[in-house]
Amino acid sequence: MAELTLPRNSRVRPGKTYAAPAGAKRVRPFKIYRWDPDGDGNPRLDTYEVDLDACGPMVLDALIKIKNETDATLTFRRSCREGVCGSCAMNIDGTNTLACTKYIDEVKGDVKIYPLPHMPVVKDLVPDLTRAYAQYALIEPWLKTETPAPGRERPQSPEERARLDGLWECILCFCCTTACPSYWWSGERYLGPAILLQAYRWLADSRDEHAGERLDALEDPFRLYRCHTIMNCTKTCPKGLNPARAIAEIKKLMVARR
Ligand code: SF4
Ligand code: SF4
Ligand code: FES
Repeated sequence: MAELTLPRNSRVRPGKTYAAPAGAKRVRPFKIYRWDPDGDGNPRLDTYEVDLDACGPMVLDALIKIKNETDATLTFRRSCREGVCGSCAMNIDGTNTLACTKYIDEVKGDVKIYPLPHMPVVKDLVPDLTRAYAQYALIEPWLKTETPAPGRERPQSPEERARLDGLWECILCFCCTTACPSYWWSGERYLGPAILLQAYRWLADSRDEHAGERLDALEDPFRLYRCHTIMNCTKTCPKGLNPARAIAEIKKLMVARR
């Protein structure tokens, strides 16, 4: 029988432990994936004991506290701290989510934190999103029209505007895409749920006049049809969106135009 093992240098090894300050009463260990591209070592799992009485309630608060007070080399992305920029997406307690909207108290026991899965790692908790953004560019995420621009805005009825609800809220955090088994195996060619939800956002826009061309670009055995309705994407979206439904709507449009 074939025996599958990870390459030697990809195994995550136990790392250092940083103890909580003396006298801390409410201590939680945070076990955090570390990898330095400038070193030649394996990734490791460092443990930081955090005094929750001196920390904000969110996982991102703990990461910032660790970086500011314990270990300045810990690397992660963040910007808005309120769930709108998408940059603090990571895998916390086994689920892809946003560190800034995840309460520490929601996690039982040690708080285990890894980068988003199945993406190359730049450093520590920072995934390389180069391919994902190239795929985003491929769907041409802007309004495309043929009719001359009106003097003022292009109007929409309330019903037409409502069709964009559940789509415009996407913050491109890629929690869904990196939870999708089809993307893990075929990410070079399958666009994945985040990008397909964005593609549908423009297909659903009553002001856009390039639906045919947009569908042509998705009519491919891999780009769209690698979705097998596994639904991990919808389950993990921290904004409560439903990328699987958006993908199903694109498939319906494909059938309708035949
Ligand atoms: S429903 Fe489609 S996009 Fe979502 S996780 Fe499953 S295969 Fe991936
Ligand atoms: S659909 Fe949800 S999980 Fe996916 S990129 Fe958008 S906000 Fe993130
Ligand atoms: S810091 Fe912006 S979404 Fe978390």
